[in-house]
Amino acid sequence: MPERTLAIIKPDAVAAGVVGEIIAQIQQAGFRIRAMKLVRLSAEQAGAFYAVHRERPFYAELVRFMSSGPVVPMVLEKDNAVADFRALIGATDPAEAAEGTIRKRFGRSKGENAIHGSDSPENARVEIAFFFAESELVG
Ligand code: RTP
Ligand code: MG
Repeated sequence: MPERTLAIIKPDAVAAGVVGEIIAQIQQAGFRIRAMKLVRLSAEQAGAFYAVHRERPFYAELVRFMSSGPVVPMVLEKDNAVADFRALIGATDPAEAAEGTIRKRFGRSKGENAIHGSDSPENARVEIAFFFAESELVG
């Protein structure tokens, strides 16, 4: 049974017009897109999605950023999807991300880093349910 992960193309990358390039890289890496949409999160929704970080010094800035413009959440499927997608996106800080990773190519800073990926299969299930009903998963 292939694994699923949740990706979000963040507001910086949507505003920069690189959604297509990022989706192409994801598909070329062997991930199948099972669901996708364009949404603008409210501050409340962004805060709830990243609630695990609510005590961190960057939380307010993260909530402001993630609600600053449209984002593209996607459900991706592949064997070992969670770990393989974290490898494809690279380190949180684009300056530290490996060459060719999505964050190295498209991230601007540690905060505005182009893309989110779930960090465990358990969190992937919770994050997928945050954005998508089971009936919206296709194929
Ligand atoms: P993500 O959850 O978005 O995939 O990112 P991540 O696992 O690589 O990093 P995490 O520690 O979960 O942080 C979530 C997001 O918060 C912003 N951040 N800013 N300025 C800072 O020091 C800082 N640290 C984290 C980033 O947008 C990061 O992706
Ligand atoms: Mg994270």
